[in-house]
Amino acid sequence: MDAPRKKYIIGNWKMNFTPGEASLYLNKLSTRIQPTRKVQVVLAPSIVSLQSLSLQVNRRQFKLATQNFYWRDYGAFTGEVALTQLRGFVGYAIIGHSERRYLFNETEKDIAQKVAAAIRNGITPVLCIGETALERKDGETSAAIYSQLTSGLHEVSKEDIDKVIIAYEPVWAISSNKNAKPATPIDIVEAEHFIRKHIAKLYGKEASEAISILYGGSVNKNTAAGYLEIEGIDGLLIGGASLIADQFCAIVEIAKGVKDERQY
Ligand code: 13P
Repeated sequence: MDAPRKKYIIGNWKMNFTPGEASLYLNKLSTRIQPTRKVQVVLAPSIVSLQSLSLQVNRRQFKLATQNFYWRDYGAFTGEVALTQLRGFVGYAIIGHSERRYLFNETEKDIAQKVAAAIRNGITPVLCIGETALERKDGETSAAIYSQLTSGLHEVSKEDIDKVIIAYEPVWAISSNKNAKPATPIDIVEAEHFIRKHIAKLYGKEASEAISILYGGSVNKNTAAGYLEIEGIDGLLIGGASLIADQFCAIVEIAKGVKDERQY
């Protein structure tokens, strides 16, 4: 029998913690979270902390992710960091986060190149997609997801689609946005079905059933179980609550306890 599906709990620390603070925080988490095969815990600190945390971390317990990088592998790109420089430190890369799309004008083409660069460098891309409040209001949720998914996966071949993780993060649900409100399980199920349907169209049924889809947006220890129990949701991408040890550790414990009958 195949192994049960793995749940992913990814903490996106965004632009928080100095390297010293990050180290102390990792230390705190490592005394409280026991490794398990069922739940992959991934921490995404600022790039400036990645090297030191990669020396400190127990990789059986936590994997590291980069929040950003430039998609070319080397060259004259002042101020940028390539995955060839990061791949010794990280196993995952967050790509297409709405803060990068909308605050830093990252284009669909940049995002597609980043997904390709991650695969080329043996790093798992976590491709973030999600509609804005305005798109939702105008009934364009599916169109936004369709377009971000199609363009984000543009460079991904049929052989490589199993290396990609999708994170559905509706922009209006992210806690740093004005009037943020968490998505309801119904919103998430709708989006998850739509994502799998579109992956099936692009890569076939098997790929669509196998791909991991995470939810992100105002998740905390009180709401995590409700999201993790949704069939078809394989984990959580957490911002604010990942910076608070009590919250984050509680969410990991909840993920360990969730039953998932699917075998992919
Ligand atoms: P919050 O959990 O703070 O809403 O952030 C979500 C997010 O942007 C994770 O990438």
